[in-house]
Amino acid sequence: MYASLTKYLMPSARPTATDQQPFVCKDCTGWGGEIAERVDTIGTSFVNTFYCPFLNSLFLISTARVLHMKFSTTTASSTEVKANWLVAGISENDEFSPSLQRLDEALDGSLSRMREREDLTGKAGEVTVLGDAPGLAADRLLIVGLGPADKQSLQELRKAYSTAIRKIATKEKQSLGLCVPESIVSALGASAALELLSDTVTVSCSGQGLYQDEKSRYPFEEVLITEVEENQENKAAVRRGVILGEAVNLTRELVNRHPDDIYPESFAQRAADEAADLGIRGEIFDEEMLKDEKMGAMLAVAQGSERPPRMVVLKYNGGGEEAPTLGLVGKGVTFDSGGLSLKTSAGMITMKSDMAGAATVLGAVLAIAKLKLPVNVVGYMGLVENMTGGAAYKLGSVLTARNGKSIEIHNTDAEGRLVLADALAFAVDDKVDKLVDLATLTGACVVALGNDIVGAFSNDQPWCDSVLKSAREQGEDIWQMPMYDYFAEQLKSEFADCKNIGSRWGGAITAAKFLEQFVGETPWVHLDIAGPSYVESSSAQRDAGGTGVMVRALVRLAEANS
Ligand code: BES
Ligand code: MN
Ligand code: ZN
Repeated sequence: MYASLTKYLMPSARPTATDQQPFVCKDCTGWGGEIAERVDTIGTSFVNTFYCPFLNSLFLISTARVLHMKFSTTTASSTEVKANWLVAGISENDEFSPSLQRLDEALDGSLSRMREREDLTGKAGEVTVLGDAPGLAADRLLIVGLGPADKQSLQELRKAYSTAIRKIATKEKQSLGLCVPESIVSALGASAALELLSDTVTVSCSGQGLYQDEKSRYPFEEVLITEVEENQENKAAVRRGVILGEAVNLTRELVNRHPDDIYPESFAQRAADEAADLGIRGEIFDEEMLKDEKMGAMLAVAQGSERPPRMVVLKYNGGGEEAPTLGLVGKGVTFDSGGLSLKTSAGMITMKSDMAGAATVLGAVLAIAKLKLPVNVVGYMGLVENMTGGAAYKLGSVLTARNGKSIEIHNTDAEGRLVLADALAFAVDDKVDKLVDLATLTGACVVALGNDIVGAFSNDQPWCDSVLKSAREQGEDIWQMPMYDYFAEQLKSEFADCKNIGSRWGGAITAAKFLEQFVGETPWVHLDIAGPSYVESSSAQRDAGGTGVMVRALVRLAEANS
């Protein structure tokens, strides 16, 4: 029987729950199951029937998921592709590749002449635009420099293409033809090249215009990758790139949303919306349930806020019963004022981004499910707002975390580790086999490694190596930090089992040693993304705001462990 609703319907938001509080449903806090049947596609929305195993009934749902761009491959020559833009790449100090030669011929040798005049050097990030290109079917041509052929790493290529795409994705309803440079295919292989291009286009034409009347970036209506065989392998590579790019964009968007737009309840709602038709089972824990689960550390942080806390658990079971489970835990402090240990204005201005860990976990779990990877992954997102209200937790307060440890609070701004303590202990109790947590945890990590490098901390070297490898394979910079036990001694308290801060020096390590107390024997890697998850100002190659760092690395990690 159908409960016919035109609006997207969550089982936990079924008609008996009030519209204002769809998630405080006590009878059915879960959702899950598969799309039973795709009924129709209306514009950019799907209408599906959705089976809820908790309520044992079918719902008619429509997901307003905007399908921005249509990607396809074509065997047609770049010179013949009708599009508003054609983008080609050129290596430094090299002969023209065969595909560039064909373009040069169609353009009557103008590329050769430009190269002779040293206007087309191929230096990484150099952008040359021919605003009118008679000889080509495309309206305009952009050639981006890729640097020397032997230095074209994933990271460098991503930068170069981001610069190029950001430059042209400034008008609505444009189409794009994309050549695949031979140098990239020989550096990365054909599939990885297609994946990189579709991923980068997806990310770099999505701007941060959430709250701006006039957008600076628009998605392309259509992207045609030229001179590529239309086989399954190539199609899968493009699809994979788009899925990764969209996951990165979702993480960026959530980080960029202002703190009264994304708060624990609205984050949880969004996670549920995004996960519902992907065969992911999930649960949202409200305050009462968190109390039942003895999440005393996380609840203490939430005390000073008008906004109640939530924990979202998303379970993707693609590997079957026997396969091990990877647990991904994210810090989701939707705003960090510092609490009573109040931050300065300068320190507080970026703190809407303190939920980047949770947003990264969400992006990765969704991508893993969309790719139908044969793995079991559970995402745990601990969501709170750290505020200074009358009930706020205090300096000297003693809390009891889920695993029974008491914690004396010496600084209410060291709140992320409290949220993670409970979420990590919860994941351990859930019997995940391996753990990774992601958190904008310490300013100290930014001091140590700068703005672009993720800090990794672990209790298990082989597991850490595997995380480092996955990140590097995706062109994400990461560095392992030490875990000497004497840092844990700084956490000794006179009044409780531990306190929540150590001394100022090596603060990223003390934070990791704090977390280590909550993971038991489970192989675990803590990723401090305080620096790289957010950039304060735009550059040619990327927009200010959330970056989606580590989303791709986590997908890779899940794959490597399948
Ligand atoms: N969310 C911050 C860490 C942070 C700082 C993230 C800068 C991104 C950019 C975290 O909750 C925090 O405030 N940490 C304190 C810990 C200290 C009180 C031990 C810090 O780093 O100052
Ligand atoms: Mn803080
Ligand atoms: Zn924080």
